[in-house]
Parts: sequence; C-alpha cells; structure tokens
Amino acid sequence: MQPYIHEEEEKINTNFEARLLTANDYKGFAPIYDDFREKAVEQYMFELEPLEFEDFCDSVKKNLIDCLVLYENTIPVAFLVYTTAISEAIELNIIHSFKMENMAERSIYLLKKFLELTKAEREEKIVCYPMLGAQKNIVGEIAHYGFKFVGIAVLRFMMNGTNSREILKMTELSQLEENYRLTEWDDKYFEDAVEVVQEGFENSADALFDPRFKTIDGTRDIVTKIVKDLYAEFLPEATTVMLCNNEPVGFCFMNLTGGKIANIPIVSIKKDFQGKGLSKHMLKKSIEKLLYWADSGEKPITEVNTTTETNNFQALKMYRHLGFKEDYNYPQSYLPIKKDLY
Ligand SMILES: CC(C)(COP(=O)(O)OP(=O)(O)OC[C@H]1O[C@@H](n2cnc3c(N)ncnc32)[C@H](O)[C@@H]1OP(=O)(O)O)[C@@H](O)C(=O)NCCC(=O)NCCS
Repeated sequence: MQPYIHEEEEKINTNFEARLLTANDYKGFAPIYDDFREKAVEQYMFELEPLEFEDFCDSVKKNLIDCLVLYENTIPVAFLVYTTAISEAIELNIIHSFKMENMAERSIYLLKKFLELTKAEREEKIVCYPMLGAQKNIVGEIAHYGFKFVGIAVLRFMMNGTNSREILKMTELSQLEENYRLTEWDDKYFEDAVEVVQEGFENSADALFDPRFKTIDGTRDIVTKIVKDLYAEFLPEATTVMLCNNEPVGFCFMNLTGGKIANIPIVSIKKDFQGKGLSKHMLKKSIEKLLYWADSGEKPITEVNTTTETNNFQALKMYRHLGFKEDYNYPQSYLPIKKDLY
C-alpha cells in the first residue's frame, strides 16, 4: 500500500523556517514577490501579469488567499500561495523561490509546511496544483507525498499571425439536420446548462481535481461563477447553445480576460448527442462571433484559448479541426483525500 505521506527521514536545512505572511512582514516580502511577478508570464506561463503587490497584500488581509513564506537565516527566500475561497478544493497556485535558486529544496520544505497547516481541511478537501512552467521540475518530488497527475494541454486560436483563421475558413462541417438550431446564451438555459455540463464532466479527469463536477450542486456553483463573471468577463453573445427540437443539448461557454484574451472554460454536449459532429458547429459559431468583434474593432480580442486533458482525444480533435494549435502541456496535480486513497 502506498504511504500517504512520505515517511523517509530527509535532510532538512535547519536554517529554514516557514510561516504565514502577516502585515508585519509585508515590507521584507516585497522584493521576492516582485521577483515572482517578473517571471510569472515567461517562467510560469501565467496568461496575465499577477496582482500588484498592494492588491496581493490586500487579498491576504481579506483571507482570500494565504501565503506561506520561507525564511532562510531570517531572510525571506521563497513562498507558496494557496486559496480555499474559490472552489471545494484547496487550490495551490504557485511555489516560487527567489531568482529560481534552490527551487527543489525550498519548494519541498514549503510543501511539507503547507500539508501540516492544511491537515484538518484535507480530511474533507482535495488539494489541486497546476504545475505551470518551471514548477514542473518538482513533479518527481511531490509524487512522494501522494500527489497524482493529469496532463493538461493548452490550445490557442490566434486571431492573427498564424493559420488558425484559414483552417477555420476551410473547415467544411456537415449540414445540421432540421431539428437542430444554434442560438446564443440566455439565462433561461441556466439549469439545462448545469445538467449538460455535469453529464459531460462527472467522470472526467477534471472531476478528479475539481470535485464540484461530481454533483449537480457543485456544477451549479461552477456555471454560476462563469455566468456571473467570477472567473472572468462572461460573453453571453459568444456563448453558443445547441438546441434539438428547441431543447438545449450542448453548450460552448466563452469568457474574456483582461479585455482581450478569450477563453473557453467549458464545452459539453449530452452523451446521446456526442460523436455526431455537433460540437464543432457550436465552437465555430462562438469563434466567428469573436472574429467579428476583433475585425470590427468592437473588442480588441487577440486570441481564444482553452485547456483540455492530453488524452481527451474527442476534444483535441474538435479544437484542432477548427484551427486551434497546441501550445504546451503541463501536469495538473492533485492530492486525493485520504479516504479516496485506501
Ligand atoms: C468533447 C465534446 C464536446 C466533443 O463533442 P462531439 O460533438 O462529440 O464532437 P464531434 O462529434 O464534433 O467529434 C470531434 C472529433 O472527435 C472524434 N471522435 C468522436 N468520438 C471519438 C472517440 N471516442 N475517440 C476519439 N475521437 C473521437 C470525431 O471523429 C471528431 O473528429 P474529426 O474532427 O476528425 O471528425 C464531447 O465529447 C463532450 O461533451 N465531452 C465531455 C466534456 C468534455 O470533455 N469537454 C471538453 C473539455 S472542455
């Protein structure tokens, strides 16, 4: 049986100490946070610049995020950020070491402290951790602590500068049968959307690291957060609904981040309607709306991106078929709760 926590004796740097960031420590912490901000896009593949230092401290103050800081001989050298405010999981967002020095040892020390601090919460909640960019280097280490991994592919459709548009233009889709119709989002479809998304995702890899997909209530929370702008700006006119005999059977949601980067958080179609080429129609309609906005200057959209599991071949084929290109892959890790391990 696999041990839940790594039991081996490890050499620990005795000059290390980790504690949660409080107002007294903000000043000394600023340089290391700024070092992280400089590297976030290039080294950690963040889509946008992270929060300014003051906004970050404000979020810590409001308990929206927790920040565990590692001190080496009393100097802050690394930190780990996590939140329990967004979903049912404990979301570990980033582990960063100043100037990327001694990443492995510092990360593991922080991770152990984090696991100690969250022990009680972890009786009920999984931990999820997207190991973006350089964080990937500690995959082997964190596997010792019971973390599991799902490969995630990031795909992009660029409005200009690649051949995505040409591929979309050349894609010939089968004629939709008469009883099918595409339409835009309307709030009256909300409960149908919750059902369709739950059906599509309840047994998916996403449900392993976001357990809300396992229940209708959890999925309602996800869909609510999408349509109420809690993740990003919701784009109802670029969100497409597939109707069959006027009943909603599929949804392609669309968000906008930072005013210019569109993102598809979810595409889902009822099981009985899968494999008929219907989702490509939804996706195409949604992208065409974005292209219209980009070309008319109404919204300065530069790309639409999405993520999917690296072995979700149906989704990957659908995206590629319409001009999306795979940009990079990363390990999405998660720590199951104890009772799910035994
Ligand atoms: C992913 C999903 C939206 C695709 O919808 P769909 O309407 O079934 O897709 P399509 O019928 O257009 O098929 C897409 C491609 O997958 C292929 N395909 C269908 N079933 C397949 C299977 N079991 N294995 C591999 N490829 C398959 C199709 O041939 C098609 O390829 P093509 O473009 O080369 O013709 C749908 O499967 C779904 O709702 N899945 C659950 C939720 C999900 O995973 N969403 C995506 C992540 S956000």
